[in-house]
Amino acid sequence: MAKSSRAPSRRRVVKLLLALPFVRFLDAYLARFIGLGSDTAIAAAPLRVAKVSELTQPWSSVSFPYRLKVRSKDVYKKETVTEETIPGLVIRLPDDVAEKRGGGVKGKFYVVDLHCTHQRCVTTYLQDKNEIRAVADIDAKNPMAYCPCHRSVFDLGQGGKVVKGPAKQPLWKFEFDIKKDEIVVTGVDPKASQWDPGRPGELFGEYPVREGEPGL
Ligand code: FES
Repeated sequence: MAKSSRAPSRRRVVKLLLALPFVRFLDAYLARFIGLGSDTAIAAAPLRVAKVSELTQPWSSVSFPYRLKVRSKDVYKKETVTEETIPGLVIRLPDDVAEKRGGGVKGKFYVVDLHCTHQRCVTTYLQDKNEIRAVADIDAKNPMAYCPCHRSVFDLGQGGKVVKGPAKQPLWKFEFDIKKDEIVVTGVDPKASQWDPGRPGELFGEYPVREGEPGL
């Protein structure tokens, strides 16, 4: 049977919904859930972030900001380009950890996006075992990344694996090359751009934010 020409199109229904103030508030999330909006990272130029020769000690590190342009399309297919800064960290791994990852000069370095994979707060690089025990209640063998928002903990000796949730995915990492003495970031983790704000329960504060710490 032919469709009635009076039946509202999906786009029209979406436009009507977006006229409601509460639904407008959820615009970004709604766009993802119904699949009409999208975000695409625009490739940034390779960035020198550290020298091999300055990172000789196990777990020594250099932090860097990585500026990336993100092209977004909203539910009306309108395109905007915004700049995002990703907090990056290059870590020199101990030899035994590097060997497990395949060895070589490149295997000695781990270049990580410090955004928490739960709701993208910025994690803190903790090296001191007593500090890790005090803040995260974990007896750690090596440094960890700790998220102050909902206390997720990521093991930096195991590729950013989640040790404590609510985060479920390991930390994202940068793509990089070693050029002579330079560590050069060449791109972001594709999984980072597929990040989803999560289930509605997470949006509405299922996990309490600690007092005095960054909110959602
Ligand atoms: S944002 Fe990191 S644990 Fe929630």
